[in-house]
Amino acid sequence: MRASATTDAPIALDADTVAIGVFEGKGIAHDLEGEPLQALLDSGEARPTFKHLALHHGAGKRWLLVGLGRRDAFDAERARVAAATAHGRARELGAHTLCWELPHHVGDEIAAALVEGTVLAGYRFDRYRARPDDEPPQLLEVVVSAHHDVAAAVRRGAVGARAQNLARELQDTPANDLTPMALGERAQELAGIEVEVHGRDWLAEQDMGAFLAVSQGSDHEPAMIVARYERGDGPLLAFVGKAVTHDTGGLSIKAAAGMHEMKFDMSGGAAVLGALQAIAALELPVRVLAVIGSTENTIGGSAMKPGDIVRASNGLTIEINNTDAEGRLVLCDCLCYAVAQGAERIVDLATLTGGVVTALGSTYAGLFATDDELAASVTAAGEAAGEPVWRLPLHAEYDEQMKGRYADLVNSESRKAHPIQGASFLKRFVGDVPWAHVDMAGTAHDTGRAYAAKGGAGWGVRLLLELARASAA
Ligand code: BES
Ligand code: MN
Ligand code: ZN
Repeated sequence: MRASATTDAPIALDADTVAIGVFEGKGIAHDLEGEPLQALLDSGEARPTFKHLALHHGAGKRWLLVGLGRRDAFDAERARVAAATAHGRARELGAHTLCWELPHHVGDEIAAALVEGTVLAGYRFDRYRARPDDEPPQLLEVVVSAHHDVAAAVRRGAVGARAQNLARELQDTPANDLTPMALGERAQELAGIEVEVHGRDWLAEQDMGAFLAVSQGSDHEPAMIVARYERGDGPLLAFVGKAVTHDTGGLSIKAAAGMHEMKFDMSGGAAVLGALQAIAALELPVRVLAVIGSTENTIGGSAMKPGDIVRASNGLTIEINNTDAEGRLVLCDCLCYAVAQGAERIVDLATLTGGVVTALGSTYAGLFATDDELAASVTAAGEAAGEPVWRLPLHAEYDEQMKGRYADLVNSESRKAHPIQGASFLKRFVGDVPWAHVDMAGTAHDTGRAYAAKGGAGWGVRLLLELARASAA
């Protein structure tokens, strides 16, 4: 979907459909020559109630009046939702070009969000379907009309949303097709980024015994995907992603119900790749190292077994008490690698625990950090991007819990505080480098947000992009 900005009035454009937002207690911003839009509002057919839609035909166009609710409650997230709502109706109506008239007195982030909501709502994953011929056609273009130039915001919104759609497509692709190496190949297609993909032999040379243990039950080659984007001379920011292409739980096998959803266990890695694509497209002046650990976690004759002891690349030994706590085994070697490569700040994204889904649902992701400044930056980026995170604690008592009986660490211990156990475990692998861990198990898919309600949500792309943008400023 194309996206553009204009300072021309919607009536002067050749857009076939125009969306005009209506706030509570306010009229139509500037009435349109001869078009009875205010009358539609006065009659009650159009209403300012958030997400309410009313349609008018006139001057050779369709006019969608979109309720935006109270002006003081309106923010970028509401703009994304309103845009997705308008997109749904516009698509039903067979629209090709939708022009949003930017409400007056809002910031440029609203222009970006309207584009994001529209581009995200336009996402379809139908590669595996025979094409039904009664589907309305895709919207081809979104235009934002404003009194001032919003081209930069529109571009930023479009680039970010397309990157988020890339992450969603990777998430939605099933594990039989999106193998770890296939993910590596997708990474190598990204423009403007240097990518290396390492397999089993390389992992063995690096003594990454924890990562290898997870992969040894699968016939698919694991992939450690290392990507670099460098502009300017700022601190080296590392994004580390869990990309378990499917998680059966291994021998500590998961229940059958819902196991198909474990194709989404690569969502952290997908978000890192999406963010990198957007950072490169926007040519942000930052230095980013991405490390994505990709493997299947499944059963097989050589699968890791409960009780096995392995050695991670920093020398720490780990008792694998639960083969379903595999994410931390993959990530710990990725974190060691990021540290060895000179990372100065590390943010990892992972669908790590069901516990965080129970605690925070799909609204917030869980945040853990060893550094308050980094925690504040990640929190602020999440807030600005509409992907909020909530900080959970680390504590020496949890560290005690993760001590092994036969080895340095256990990968899982009792049922107490799983999300924190995961973080406490990972903390041992980052040395003194400021580190933040985002447990996104609840926000990765089926979040119910209007612009990405079902399937992969591409969650984390906007947060990482915003974090990079803020650290470039
Ligand atoms: N990939 C799962 C976490 C998950 C659960 C993601 C539900 C999305 C929805 C992870 O590998 C896992 O299995 N975690 C275990 C850890 C436990 C064994 C310590 C969990 O949360 O139950
Ligand atoms: Mn698991
Ligand atoms: Zn997992």
